Amino acid sequence: MSKITVVGAGKYGSTTVQRLAEADLVDEIVMTDIVEGLPQGLALDMNQSRSVERYRTKVVGTNDYGDAAGSDVVVITAGLPRKPGMSRMGLLEVNAKIVKQVTGEIAAGSPDAVLIVVTNPLDHMTTLAAEVSGFPKGRVMGQAGNLDTARFIHFISEKTGADILDVEALTLGSHGATMVPVPSQCRVGGRPLTEVLDGNEIEELVSRTRQGGAEIVGLLKTGSAYYAPSAAAAKMVRAVLEDSGEQMPVCAWTGGEYGISDVYLGVPAKVGAGGVTEIIEMDLTDDELAALGEAASAVKEKVDELHSLDLG
Ligand code: LAC
Repeated sequence: MSKITVVGAGKYGSTTVQRLAEADLVDEIVMTDIVEGLPQGLALDMNQSRSVERYRTKVVGTNDYGDAAGSDVVVITAGLPRKPGMSRMGLLEVNAKIVKQVTGEIAAGSPDAVLIVVTNPLDHMTTLAAEVSGFPKGRVMGQAGNLDTARFIHFISEKTGADILDVEALTLGSHGATMVPVPSQCRVGGRPLTEVLDGNEIEELVSRTRQGGAEIVGLLKTGSAYYAPSAAAAKMVRAVLEDSGEQMPVCAWTGGEYGISDVYLGVPAKVGAGGVTEIIEMDLTDDELAALGEAASAVKEKVDELHSLDLG
């Protein structure tokens, strides 16, 4: 039996479950949460949509990690979202405690799973999940690049008037202040972005992409984005389950690529049955490479801070 678990039945978690259930990829999707009744109620509601949406995947809502045992892929969304004006880093300690506890439970019951972390601050929570699980580093990855790239594509499409499906873009680096949108790899209708927009226009879109999550947090007042985030996470789950080897930006453990090693950072990678199967080295400009190096240093610095915390 194929099985996905999504930890956390908040908006991000439950929307991810909905997208994956409707894709009808697996027999069962387990949705866990600490709030009693929440995952059960959402699961019952989703299951009642199956005959209308025409899918067979069964959703199981539970407060018991025992139900998650034997999962092939586990998406960890557990943790608090930001409040308006807050940076993702402001969640470091509170979410580290949650991710540590959740990962311990999941790793014990699903020792062969691929872990996909989406909890913020993303690069640091992915690092923590890898450490706590003890899984091979390639089997633990974080979702950020698909989301940041999707936001960048949206802004490029709005600015240029190009069809959303004719825009290609890429963002690397951290899911935060040192995010690295990569204009040299962006194309609009096959043309390099750098030929379509001038430097200032591109910089505006880059900056809005970096602030993409905060812009939505500010509008929503409570909670953070979940439609694009869940689409981005579901894309990774699909690549693992289908062993597609699809190339996408993921928060992955680096081993010397781009001159960066021993840190979880957003890089282009192939994703398949084992998680990250290969990190791809693209031709980046000197500025982009330097920005990626700065992102790696910034993540390492905060990981040191994470290691100094008492997580219980
Ligand atoms: C965002 C959160 C999910 O960027 O990190 O919207």
